[in-house]
Amino acid sequence: MARPQSRYVCQACGASVLRWEGQCRTCGAWNTLVETLVRVPSAASRRAAAPAAGATPDPVPLAGLAETEVPRLGLGIPELDRVLGGGIVPGSLVLVGGEPGIGKSTLLLQAAAGLAAAPATAGGWVLYATGEESPAQVRLRARRLGLLDGAAGAAIRVVAESDAGRIVELARSGRPSLLIVDSIQTMTVDELEGPAGSVGQVRESALRLMELAKGEGIAVILVGHVTKDGTLAGPRTLEHLVDAVLGLEGERSAALRLLRATKNRFGSTEEIGVFEMGERGLEELADPARAFLVEHPEPAPGSAVGVILEGSRPLLVEVQALVAPGGYGAPRRTAAGIDGNRLALLVAVLGRRAGVALGSHDVYANLAGGLAADEPGLDLPLAIALASSLRDRPALPGTVAVGEVGLLGELRPVPGLERRLREAARLGYRRAIVPRSRRGPTEVEGIAVCVTGTLREALDAALAPAEAGVTGRRRPDRPSGLPVPARGDARS
Ligand code: TYD
Ligand code: MG
Repeated sequence: MARPQSRYVCQACGASVLRWEGQCRTCGAWNTLVETLVRVPSAASRRAAAPAAGATPDPVPLAGLAETEVPRLGLGIPELDRVLGGGIVPGSLVLVGGEPGIGKSTLLLQAAAGLAAAPATAGGWVLYATGEESPAQVRLRARRLGLLDGAAGAAIRVVAESDAGRIVELARSGRPSLLIVDSIQTMTVDELEGPAGSVGQVRESALRLMELAKGEGIAVILVGHVTKDGTLAGPRTLEHLVDAVLGLEGERSAALRLLRATKNRFGSTEEIGVFEMGERGLEELADPARAFLVEHPEPAPGSAVGVILEGSRPLLVEVQALVAPGGYGAPRRTAAGIDGNRLALLVAVLGRRAGVALGSHDVYANLAGGLAADEPGLDLPLAIALASSLRDRPALPGTVAVGEVGLLGELRPVPGLERRLREAARLGYRRAIVPRSRRGPTEVEGIAVCVTGTLREALDAALAPAEAGVTGRRRPDRPSGLPVPARGDARS
């Protein structure tokens, strides 16, 4: 067999050269040359690419299109199956990304076990190819997860292999129901010289695995590493190539994990899965809606509860803010899990439109539980938390707030209000502060809905009045509304 040749192709202009160079000689771009396999199309693929004249199908009216039921394999983890759109589709290629140590290998080993145990795949098996860990390490994890005995112990077959070609061969001859490749950044193909993890190797390995998935109808899951800035390591094309991209998120120090689809050809990208990393791997939560809430023994200034919608699922979240007098220089604005620009904008609107002057204060804001959310409906609880911290006055207990804040200090409605309030009522919240809606008032059983037009009104409705006696945490030596003394501890 003649050894196919590799070329270095400029990703900016398409020029190709034989040796790697730092700069493209044709267009002058730096670091754009990527090792690429020169493919001589086989006769069969040429025929497939160019159908003979006359074989072109006639256009079909929309209503006349045939519906095909997509077959799916359940992975035995309802939260994962839901994010996939109801199980994994045979012949599809799914990329699961996440930071190192977040739990990707754990989740996929559990999914492999779930598939092995499902009656629909009786007799089926899972090929788990690991390029990162030794079989002994995989065994250790499996033992921890309690998967050594039972169906999984026999139906999951592990191979420590980083040659994508060999893995494809193994899958072609053995025909597993599912192939898991952990991780795509460790895979190489023979014909390329670049190291594992280089753009060329990752892309070519993924291409081979895609051909396998499509050609043999085998479901393939790739594990992908995520760089510090949260993007998948390797080529962008990887995300275009695969059918679905799932991201496992969360803070490694906290136990909660979110699984989110950022692309899904076979389902919605709206659904999220919520897990908790426990003693026996990733466990589903009985009541994910309250997963991100923190119970405070007494009302705490700087805290407000909002309701976000993640797909069809309402989640109650606690927004926390801490406001402290700034030192010299520009005041700090630090946000975690919340968009920093949004925080800066709210600080400005609060100052100009609601009489909450934070201009010279350091401001810290985050979502409890390590959640990250980008939702306009969080504006109002964030504004309430900021005002509450500045005035050192807690928000009224049992209250949720939902709404977008406009530049004029007006409140704007957000979608799905009723669904959000029903969930809040179910979890025991008795009062909701919401924007005026064009469709008239929203009524939800069990929760009093307080409709407000402006941020100022909403703050009045949300914060306990100073004389109401709910301000038990306020220090008697500090009148409400005044900033804490300059030497006060910012973390108090
Ligand atoms: P892992 O799946 O190896 O992460 P990744 O493949 O994304 O790098 O999981 C790593 C962490 O999960 C590790 O710090 C240990 C922890 N863990 C548990 O807490 N419980 C468990 O049952 C298992 C298997 C792992
Ligand atoms: Mg791993």
